[in-house]
Amino acid sequence: MGSYLILVGVLSMCTICFSQECNTELLTNEDFPGTDILHLYAPDAEHCQQLCTQHHSCQFFTFLRSDWSRDKRNFYCYLKSTPSGEPNSRTALLGVTSGFSLKPCNQAPPQPCLSNVYQNVDFNGDDYRSFFTGDQEGCQRACTQDPYCQYFTYANDVHTPENIRYKCHLKFSWPVPRTPIVERTAGVVSGFSSKAPMSQVSDTACQAKLFPNTAVPGDHLKMFTTATPEHCLSLCSAHPSCTFFAHNSGNFTCNLKNNPDEMVLKAKAGVTSGIPERFCQLDNSWLTVPQVGIDFRGSDMRFELMEDAETCQKTCNEDAYCQFYTYVTSEFHNNDYWKRCYLKRVITMPSPSKIVKTNNVVSGFHLRNCAKGSGI
Ligand SMILES: *[C@@H]1O[C@H](CO)[C@@H](O)[C@H](O)[C@H]1NC(C)=O
Repeated sequence: MGSYLILVGVLSMCTICFSQECNTELLTNEDFPGTDILHLYAPDAEHCQQLCTQHHSCQFFTFLRSDWSRDKRNFYCYLKSTPSGEPNSRTALLGVTSGFSLKPCNQAPPQPCLSNVYQNVDFNGDDYRSFFTGDQEGCQRACTQDPYCQYFTYANDVHTPENIRYKCHLKFSWPVPRTPIVERTAGVVSGFSSKAPMSQVSDTACQAKLFPNTAVPGDHLKMFTTATPEHCLSLCSAHPSCTFFAHNSGNFTCNLKNNPDEMVLKAKAGVTSGIPERFCQLDNSWLTVPQVGIDFRGSDMRFELMEDAETCQKTCNEDAYCQFYTYVTSEFHNNDYWKRCYLKRVITMPSPSKIVKTNNVVSGFHLRNCAKGSGI
């Protein structure tokens, strides 16, 4: 028993002993070659560093700046990791900036203020609304005031073609956590951090309208997997085009739907449909309800060993980056995994799906996370 406890202690220390140094330094013209997890787009190295920080397994990154000239991969943000947590090698390379995840610093706000604007840069796609504003400040103000807007692109007064000069495009990316894989698995318990950013924060409380054992056929917009109708409701309420949704408790599909003209309800066992609630504080008490026998597979930041699912939930609540968790109980078929508490997250900061150089446009982000008085 004594040696078992020592082994557990060593294991639990070593799940968190990799790359625990807080290193905020940005290394200009230095490449960390290889060991890519994936690439996303970022307008600058600081944004790429924030994406790495919010990605569950990114430990360090290399960003190809706007002055990168070997090929057209400007604004590529390569997220990287190694078993040791350190880059395998470091080489000099003009036009790139490298750096590290800020997760070990444990102070970085999970919702950063992104106040830079980027001239001649297009945040391509993801539009949900457009109109005309007299200048770029008007476009950024509109983005900040619209709760769905995560970022914008504005065509300035010398843009060609002329007929879209002064056009302001508001754009969307997911500000609420999605659970990429939800599966029935005996012997595990999953749940959310009570601090997971699931809905708008408001003084006005509201109750959403749910229709148990009812489907709304057709009008498909997007599909996700969620363990509960309440999580599906949060996704629908966050999306500017979701007019109603249907959640299937058999295979955990969460179908967001768009039809502003009509909503046809049909009796169907095992399906819960509902109408989103916006501009109010939804009841988020479901976040604290553990889902027994359900695995939120993947998106692991790390695991720690602990005695029960309640401690796992508490650990997730207290970790600034944890959004959801899965705990492995002694009912699980493989005892190698017993007592593991997997802490998980996905990126919820504004993350344009594509960024390209384009003359006479300017792009930027909403300023809702910026202290009042800075910016507009
Ligand atoms: C989920 O189950 C429903 C029937 O209960 C089925 O119609 C639907 O195709 C399933 N979806 C997926 C993605 O498996």
